[in-house]
Amino acid sequence: MYRLLFSLVLSRMDPEDAHHLAFRVIRMLPALGFGRLVELATRPDPSLAVHALGRRFASPFGVAAGFDKDGFAVRGLGNLGFGHVEVGTITAVAQPGNERPRLFRLVRDRALVNRMGFNNGGADAAVGRLSRLARRSHRPVLGVNIGKSRVTAVEDAVADYERSARVLAPFADYLVVNVSSPNTPGLRGLQELDALAPLLEAVRAIAGTTPLLVKIAPDLADDEVVRICELVTRLGLDGIIATNTTISRDGLTASAAEVERIGAGGLSGAPLAARSMEVLRLVRANVPAGLCVISVGGVETAEDVQARLDAGATLVQGYSAFIYRGPLWARQVNRGLARIRRSSGRSDVAAPAGA
Ligand code: FNR
Repeated sequence: MYRLLFSLVLSRMDPEDAHHLAFRVIRMLPALGFGRLVELATRPDPSLAVHALGRRFASPFGVAAGFDKDGFAVRGLGNLGFGHVEVGTITAVAQPGNERPRLFRLVRDRALVNRMGFNNGGADAAVGRLSRLARRSHRPVLGVNIGKSRVTAVEDAVADYERSARVLAPFADYLVVNVSSPNTPGLRGLQELDALAPLLEAVRAIAGTTPLLVKIAPDLADDEVVRICELVTRLGLDGIIATNTTISRDGLTASAAEVERIGAGGLSGAPLAARSMEVLRLVRANVPAGLCVISVGGVETAEDVQARLDAGATLVQGYSAFIYRGPLWARQVNRGLARIRRSSGRSDVAAPAGA
């Protein structure tokens, strides 16, 4: 059904317009009063629950940052079966993002390219919404991903992140320092240890008891990933999210002309899967067993999610395949995970954090 809707309608629309349309429907689910009804059909099997970051996640599978930049659709996404929603990236200063078009589909590659540029309403505007959400008992786990405002010079990044952390950490179940999006000039340079250590220390001091994670790029060299793992361990952070989108265009079936026409941006979806898995293995091998590792990049099926869990992920996120699989995606993944669990006779879907 969704495949038909996608090929006849959505794939012919501008990708960002299609996103806004789908987003509006998801956002309205709870308000329309049938969110709970949808939820009855999508509720994850209780055996899928994961305890991490001091919270209970109804499913190990959640929505990656970027889908719900400002936290308008968290409850609707929970109704669809996602165990957590990472909102953001939110910046201290509201910003419109880059000029459109800035989101592109590579359908045959089951991939997306985006150069959105952190379009969001800013941290202060999110406070009321997220604080109301945080008070609800019936909702998915809420992650808040923060990034540098475009108007802020890289040298002043620490104060900019501090400002977002100060207003948003009180309402977040976990907070993420995003230093890995390719669409804000200079941002990924913050992954260098000299810049990253003071940034993480400063945000951690403000985050207080809110668990703090850092999100890294797949384009880092392996030794850079290892050094970030050592830093995260030394600073006593709570986790690592691997990975963001890639600037690589390797492994695409799309023609060079099409790739050229699309231009700059971060590539996500299936072509990212292999490197994302590599980085997951590298991270897991270089952090303490109890550290929360969230794997993201190119997962599409329950088998993909289970493979990440088996490789040591505590939780798994996805975004791009949502566009290709449609609104029942989380339900399909959760059902598949429960089936895998039953057929393998395991009592717990998620491997222990240190597996
Ligand atoms: C993203 N992603 C992203 N990540 C982030 O930390 N902050 C953000 O604002 C965004 N924005 C964003 C927009 C769009 C349109 C896409 C497709 C992606 C990256 C996302 O969270 C994830 O790390 C990658 O997309 C890889 O996962 P998938 O898409 O392969 O499942």
